[in-house]
Amino acid sequence: MPSFDEFITESKIFSDRDVLSPHYIPDTLHFREHQIRELMGSLAPALMGKKPRNTFIYGKTGTGKTSSVKQITKKFEEKAKGNSRIVYINCRIHNKPYRVMLKVAKAVMEGFDKQGYGLPHIYERLLEWAGEGKQLIIVLDEIDMVKHLDELLYTLTRANDELEVGGVSILGISNKLLFKEELDPRSKSSLYEREMVFPPYTANQLQKILEQRVELGMHPNACSSGAVNLAGAIAAQESGDARYALKILFRAAEIAEESAKPRITDKEVQQARDLVEFDIVKEAIEKLPENHQAVLYAVARLSISGSKYARLDEVKDGYLFSGEVYEEYTELCKKLRKQSKTARSYRSYLNDLEMLGLLTSVESGKGIRGHTKLIKLGHPPHEVIKIVSKSNG
Ligand SMILES: Nc1ncnc2c1ncn2[C@@H]1O[C@H](COP(=O)(O)OP(=O)(O)OP(=O)(O)O)[C@@H](O)[C@H]1O
Ligand SMILES: [Mg+2]
Repeated sequence: MPSFDEFITESKIFSDRDVLSPHYIPDTLHFREHQIRELMGSLAPALMGKKPRNTFIYGKTGTGKTSSVKQITKKFEEKAKGNSRIVYINCRIHNKPYRVMLKVAKAVMEGFDKQGYGLPHIYERLLEWAGEGKQLIIVLDEIDMVKHLDELLYTLTRANDELEVGGVSILGISNKLLFKEELDPRSKSSLYEREMVFPPYTANQLQKILEQRVELGMHPNACSSGAVNLAGAIAAQESGDARYALKILFRAAEIAEESAKPRITDKEVQQARDLVEFDIVKEAIEKLPENHQAVLYAVARLSISGSKYARLDEVKDGYLFSGEVYEEYTELCKKLRKQSKTARSYRSYLNDLEMLGLLTSVESGKGIRGHTKLIKLGHPPHEVIKIVSKSNG
């Protein structure tokens, strides 16, 4: 009988692989001391029986919002002795007023696990609970994902009017810059009593963040300092996103491991960058609704065959006329026996695809066809076609 020991090999690179995972939060979050301090200061009144101001945190993806807030939540819970509570809610999962309220009720009231109670009932129970003089802080992470958010905010702020003692306050977090504009004015003024921004990390900062993980999760000398610096520089150039930087480093480590190398160098980081880039594009495309995918597919197809108008001076560098892409898209819909959408919807799909970085566009000069939009695919067409085809079986 063979032993499993034969097959269990120790990694030459990782001493603790989990440290490099996106879910790991180190005890010390570098470059966020200031934000963490400020937030703790603003939540502290709850520990003294006073209602903190509602706070809104904005910052691009991977700037440490969730990690910082989770640390603070933990510290708060350690300090609070029953009379104040903080509840963290991931609104990607709990994305409706009812679900949020149910989650809050379950978190603060022991034995409250009866599903099927309506929103008014949950609300009344929470009021009773807080009415004993308790302070409740609700963290709504990725708050932009909540449907009927105005209704939820209204319910929660109304609670304060009904409570003589005790209170409910909100800590909202989002990486959507335009989110604020979509709120109704009343919600906006209640949520934005205080606002905080988490800036993107610089190359130097990302390098320090990566170094910390290398120390905690890899064997000594398993990662060259050049590799760390390069990964940090790449991520800073892209967006200042620590998650992206960590992904590159993790992939680079896997590449080194697979080729039985004892050390991560620049070369592995370069290769990892391409893989991570591809993963991100793939994920973005797979999440697209059907018509967006069809438009993207049409752009990719035409990018391969070339624009009909390629001879024109104004059509350079693989750009396509918006009109010809629309034709290709409607053709495609016909083939698939699907109803194509109007030109107006088509233009809004183009905007969405551009926002996601899957396309770029420019306005043409006053050429033969007058002013028109010129479109270019953001990624290699063959890859895009492969991903779209795969995600539709
Ligand atoms: N200052 C830091 N020190 C160490 N690791 C960090 C730091 N900031 C972020 N990270 C790491 O980067 C990853 C992303 O961070 P986090 O989830 O906090 O970002 P976020 O701002 O909430 O992003 P999103 O808007 O996408 O939700 C996590 O794995 C986290 O551990
Ligand atoms: Mg987050």
